[in-house]
Amino acid sequence: MLPTKSLLLISILHLYYGFVKGIPYAEKRGGGSPDLPNWFFLCAFSVPCTGNIPTGVDPEAFSWFQSVDADRSGNITFKELKQALVNTNWSTFNDETCVMMINMFDKTGTGKIDVFGFSALWRFVQQWKTMFHQFDRDRSGNISHGELHQALSQMGYTLSPQLIQLIMARYGQRSANPTLQLDRFIQVCTQLQSMTEAFREKDTGRSGNARLSYEDFLTMTATRLI
Ligand SMILES: *[C@@H]1O[C@H](CO)[C@@H](O)[C@H](O)[C@H]1NC(C)=O
Ligand SMILES: *[C@@H]1O[C@H](CO)[C@@H](O)[C@H](O)[C@H]1NC(C)=O
Ligand SMILES: *[C@@H]1O[C@H](CO)[C@@H](O)[C@H](O)[C@H]1NC(C)=O
Repeated sequence: MLPTKSLLLISILHLYYGFVKGIPYAEKRGGGSPDLPNWFFLCAFSVPCTGNIPTGVDPEAFSWFQSVDADRSGNITFKELKQALVNTNWSTFNDETCVMMINMFDKTGTGKIDVFGFSALWRFVQQWKTMFHQFDRDRSGNISHGELHQALSQMGYTLSPQLIQLIMARYGQRSANPTLQLDRFIQVCTQLQSMTEAFREKDTGRSGNARLSYEDFLTMTATRLI
């Protein structure tokens, strides 16, 4: 929603500056024919003119792609991705979350992400970032046990305090009161979502219980732990 809206806003601004502002500018310079044609004003500060944005790629994601793709190979590597993503405390994203996201958005099967995958990844990270800030109620820049509990229950997951404790201990930093940075929050929520989907495929009656064979269980874990 937001990117489309901002793109629309940008376009309106450019039309305004291009046609409405552009014409008086030309007239002031004393011309029937402007020194600079209107398309110049339309293009000069316009995102779509900064490069050839492939169809379906968000312009903001595209300009980010170009700065992240340090070696200009046209694909983002694990290393490039890791350097590009930072938490609220300026630490770079942890390796597990980066690998998970590469696995999710690598549609080329090369272990790298092209511009289309990157555009999807960008939207994914933006959405989680919004959620993260929304659930970080005390604005500490990290998610506490209580905040995670609230976040997950609002997302429709009913987990016991013990299970939340276990998640915090596994994914938070080693301390008496572990907290989650954005990277771990994304990892936890995504894995939970994926494992829940896998379980629901087996829990056909939606009873919260499923019968699984050992083989099923291992298959589920192997395919769903991204
Ligand atoms: C990099 O991406 C391009 C498309 O932008 C693709 O054609 C090429 O095969 C990729 N190269 C590598 C080494 O993955
Ligand atoms: C940021 O938070 C992480 C995880 O809690 C921690 O391991 C890291 O040391 C922190 N980094 C900085 C620069 O404060
Ligand atoms: C999490 O936020 C609290 C509250 O601001 C702060 O005291 C703590 O240092 C933060 N933890 C990490 C690992 O950044």
